[in-house]
Amino acid sequence: MSGIVIRAGEPHTIRTRGITLLRSGHREIRRLKRADHTPSIHGNKVWNSSFLIMDHLTRQKVPASQHLMDIGCGWGPLSIFAAKRFGCRVTAVDADPDVFPYLALHAEINKVQVTQETLKFEKLTKARLADVDIIAGADICFWDELTPVLYNLIRRALRAGVQQIIIADPGRSPFYALAERCENAGLDARVVERRTQTPKSLSADLLIINN
Ligand SMILES: C[S@@+](CC[C@H](N)C(=O)[O-])C[C@H]1O[C@@H](n2cnc3c(N)ncnc32)[C@H](O)[C@@H]1O
Repeated sequence: MSGIVIRAGEPHTIRTRGITLLRSGHREIRRLKRADHTPSIHGNKVWNSSFLIMDHLTRQKVPASQHLMDIGCGWGPLSIFAAKRFGCRVTAVDADPDVFPYLALHAEINKVQVTQETLKFEKLTKARLADVDIIAGADICFWDELTPVLYNLIRRALRAGVQQIIIADPGRSPFYALAERCENAGLDARVVERRTQTPKSLSADLLIINN
């Protein structure tokens, strides 16, 4: 650990829900960018839908004994939150290895441990998901081709015994196509609209699938 300290009130920081997140302009983020870590599949900032998943998990409560997998984790806001708030085991998965230095930085400043895995959604097998209780993903269904990929992942996860899958999105059409596919297939799936005022006024839809 290099002992990075983020002071109260420091610019380019977001303090919310018991965690500290860094914006793109923060000096530590700029340092990583200069070191040539350039995420290439939109993992270039903290995305907003993750805050609504945090609130859902807080209402629901996650026992410390559970294993949460954050898919398409990016800089890991959700992973960091789950590890800090619930003390549960967290695995952060992303196809893009360049997001992980940013996740590691956030884990360090929030003093939490998160397991990292460079893997595409397509490669998350039933066997790999067997010990996972909750899968959560924020802002991960943004291209049409991701709809079938995520649908197939949801089917594998349910077969593997994952208890709940939560995917959040501000309202893109591939996300609604995914929700419709889950509902048409007779899965226990619902879409709920959620709002928050922190860290700013925003809303997202949550696709929640229970096993
Ligand atoms: C819009 S970002 C959201 C990041 C993070 N969930 C958040 O809330 O800040 C989407 C993330 O999904 C990852 N991703 C995109 N396609 C993927 C795939 N097929 N398998 C795994 N990760 C993928 C990207 O690398 C990126 O980090």
